[in-house]
Amino acid sequence: MTARKVIIDTDPGQDDAVALLLALASPDQIDLLGITCVAGNVPLSLTQKNARMICEVASRPDVPVFAGRAAPLMRPLVTAEEVHGKTGLDGPELFEPKMPLQSQNGVDFIIETLRREPAGSVTLCPLGPLSNIAAAFQAAPDIVARVQEIVLMGGAYFEVGNVTPAAEFNIYVDPEAAEIVLKSGIQITMMPLDVTHKALTTRPRIEALRNLGNSAGTFTAEMLDFFERFDMEKYGSEGGPLHDPCVIAYLIAPDLFTGRHINVEIETQSKLTLGMTVADWWGVTDRRPNALFIGDLDAEGFFKLITERLARL
Ligand code: BDR
Ligand code: CA
Repeated sequence: MTARKVIIDTDPGQDDAVALLLALASPDQIDLLGITCVAGNVPLSLTQKNARMICEVASRPDVPVFAGRAAPLMRPLVTAEEVHGKTGLDGPELFEPKMPLQSQNGVDFIIETLRREPAGSVTLCPLGPLSNIAAAFQAAPDIVARVQEIVLMGGAYFEVGNVTPAAEFNIYVDPEAAEIVLKSGIQITMMPLDVTHKALTTRPRIEALRNLGNSAGTFTAEMLDFFERFDMEKYGSEGGPLHDPCVIAYLIAPDLFTGRHINVEIETQSKLTLGMTVADWWGVTDRRPNALFIGDLDAEGFFKLITERLARL
């Protein structure tokens, strides 16, 4: 099997960082064409730096990193330092990455790559607000039909919301962008909170990563030591949810996940429920299914995959 061509669009974030490490450790399955950064968990100046740092932790400075949008399409940026810390990657000792930031804008890179590569051969993996992806579709509508698939982290149905009572962070930050993506007609697989809240970093799982004895394992364990405290306090759960790595794990081992092909619409108007993913899980409307909405995973298999792959770094 040849490796799947992928662009990861991200706002690191400790869980984004684990997703990047998983992808960087899996070149047999994932041909990472580039990493485009977006403002989200922390401002763009930090997310692009964090992405470069992670490439260096994985000894993969060959992967080009781009900065995209510094703000959502139509709204002021909302960030999540209360979850991720001031840097976005609080936990380990951070350093100044040596690899350069590419001079090309991330949105332009997405457009150029989709036009250059054969149609239907590039998968987009958004792990943050969908601002870069939607901006690319708006600027170059011809690329929409060239996307192979979008596998994204965002939304919730049974878990409803994390940033507001009704909305998940990535969709809430840029609901207009999310609406453009969900209405694009592209094949979409969504990892909502319904599944990511089952991917919990228990103590033994973090210790297994620390015990790998390589810098990726230590760095990850130290990030997760910090990251898990927020959700443990909030939900009383046994660990923190590894949201974004679900996207990459799905590319490598889709059989770990189950879901339903359903209609998902984005609320962009209501003050109370802005950014809600109105997911027709029970099929009560005749709206056309537009996404594979994942609901469950084999959590043991998921952490085994992450641990085995990070051992390769
Ligand atoms: C999503 O929001 C961010 O805080 C995480 O990185 C993840 O992408 C979860 O709601
Ligand atoms: Ca993220």
